[in-house]
Amino acid sequence: MASLVRSATLRFLKPLRNLTLNDAFNHPRTQTLSVRAFSTTLSPPSKAVVYEQHGPPDRVTRVIQLPPVEVKENDVCVKMLAAPINPSDINRIEGVYPVRPQVPAVGGYEGVGEVHSVGSAVKGLLPGDLVIPSPPSFGTWQTHIVKDQSVWYKINKNSPLEYAATITVNPLTALRMLEDFVTLNKGDAIVQNGATSIVGQCIIQLAHHRGIHNINIIRDRTGSDEVKEKLKNLGADEVFTESQLEVKNVKGLLSGIPEPALGFNCVGGNAASLVLKFLGRGGTMVTYGGMSKKPITVSTTSFIFKNLSLRGFWLQNWMSTEKAKECRVLIDSLLDLAREGKLKYEMELVPFDNFNAALDKALGKQGSQPKQVINFQL
Ligand SMILES: NC(=O)c1ccc[n+]([C@@H]2O[C@H](COP(=O)([O-])OP(=O)(O)OC[C@H]3O[C@@H](n4cnc5c(N)ncnc54)[C@H](OP(=O)(O)O)[C@@H]3O)[C@@H](O)[C@H]2O)c1
Repeated sequence: MASLVRSATLRFLKPLRNLTLNDAFNHPRTQTLSVRAFSTTLSPPSKAVVYEQHGPPDRVTRVIQLPPVEVKENDVCVKMLAAPINPSDINRIEGVYPVRPQVPAVGGYEGVGEVHSVGSAVKGLLPGDLVIPSPPSFGTWQTHIVKDQSVWYKINKNSPLEYAATITVNPLTALRMLEDFVTLNKGDAIVQNGATSIVGQCIIQLAHHRGIHNINIIRDRTGSDEVKEKLKNLGADEVFTESQLEVKNVKGLLSGIPEPALGFNCVGGNAASLVLKFLGRGGTMVTYGGMSKKPITVSTTSFIFKNLSLRGFWLQNWMSTEKAKECRVLIDSLLDLAREGKLKYEMELVPFDNFNAALDKALGKQGSQPKQVINFQL
């Protein structure tokens, strides 16, 4: 921790607590100022992924050093340990996400860190504690963050780093979507596309733990048998590639699984139509993502004769309701499952220095890749 006592004219890095990130870009990094004697606590300088304008993330982001920030009495300075690159982070940088920080901004929305220092009025958090921003908040792609103590939630110190960093956005979405739309009992079934996503992998496992059958749709790819095997090891009952489902009666492919009452769609286009094909009469499809960027088409007959319902889910909206109080309790339960090995998903931990390579993978430039998680310690 940088604790400075100044009693004369000093040359120092000006604390940025009351400056915007915009000021930080334009502000001279060092200044000569005459100051009266005072004592203040500063964060270390931070290395951050920033963007000054919206656009393609591989063009508009860059890694820069940000000057130290004042740690005020209610603030906590956190040394970030890990943070994922999620599709919504990409959409925020592109400027197409409905809620996004003002530019210039630091990327990232969730992550995990260790308390580095605390302000004089902070209670319940100490240096060394493992914390996550909960609900998540902007700017996790940087080595040090200073924010009010209310932002931070202390989690079990034995939580695996990569799971602590990724536990909110995707696993909590999976959990809520299984609870909030249709009452599911043991023996019921659900169907989903995008089953290889983290949300998809969590849905498989959370459904499996509850005895709910799950039917999964993945994109065609070389090595699809291996992917199917991996998902089945997580608890998937059935896994189909999209092309396998180009048949008249998709339900004829199911053996002993009832017609699903609930479907999840994070792809759109044909993959959404396939989810609809599986649903039984009165079934509900919940859309929570649009990875293919293609619209959903619903036949007139499926509305009239199957009485299907189309719904949407947005975690950020759920977290802004009073139900959000449950958020931290649910996070603890999901982290318990991760620690017990009952909730797993594929991730690749990448050193911060390799951020650009990780971003390229997250942008799909190298085909299907595991979730990229920046490790600030490597
Ligand atoms: N509404 C919400 O509150 C909420 C919350 C969390 C996540 N989400 C959304 O959920 C989705 C999954 O997020 P995630 O972080 O779990 O994903 P992820 O782990 O980063 O995986 C990306 C997924 O998208 C698929 N994909 C990528 N490009 C595609 C394309 N052009 N066409 C079809 N599929 C494509 C990938 O399939 P392959 O394996 O075949 O590459 C993979 O299944 C995203 O759309 C995300 O925005 C929404």
